[in-house]
Amino acid sequence: MILRLRSGSPEDTLEIARALGAVLRPGDVVALTGDLGAGKTLFCKGVGEALGIPSDRIVSPTFTIVTEHAGPVPLTHIDVYRLAGAREADEIGMREILSGDGVCLVEWADKIEELLPTDCIQVRFSFSGDDRREIAIAAPDLPGFDDFRARSIRFQPGG
Ligand SMILES: Nc1ncnc2c1ncn2[C@@H]1O[C@H](COP(=O)(O)OP(=O)(O)OP(=O)(O)O)[C@@H](O)[C@H]1O
Ligand SMILES: [Mg+2]
Repeated sequence: MILRLRSGSPEDTLEIARALGAVLRPGDVVALTGDLGAGKTLFCKGVGEALGIPSDRIVSPTFTIVTEHAGPVPLTHIDVYRLAGAREADEIGMREILSGDGVCLVEWADKIEELLPTDCIQVRFSFSGDDRREIAIAAPDLPGFDDFRARSIRFQPGG
């Protein structure tokens, strides 16, 4: 099941991300894909807020691949844009990082698809004009998915 949501502004995207963050469990991996400037980092900020991490801590640094944020549920923010691909990610220990106890958020996750857990939560962004984005979310094994669907109802077509 894929939930397709419509965001009309950065604030909408933050709200959707907070709603997802509220139902994530320790150990969950969220795979974010979408072009430059689609809203992946902004979404990570919203998830972080739901986990009690101030949004200004979650940034898009030029060279850092992995950033750990301590919190009630630890958050690992990963951006693999600068890696060549899955093999290079494997060499820096990505499998172990992804199997940690906290929540992992992975920007440009499609670059390391082979290393992602099969039950990861997929969030795909596409541009639909100006400040509009479609955010498609698939989470087959997430117990809180129905709860998330209810929380994000106003972003669903016709909702
Ligand atoms: N509906 C929207 N949702 C998210 N961001 C939006 C939206 N409308 C406009 N924006 C703007 O788009 C930009 C998204 O930037 P962000 O850094 O989150 O993208 P990204 O996908 O992480 O990019 P990168 O590939 O460089 O990591 C921000 O400047 C934000 O204000
Ligand atoms: Mg980013």
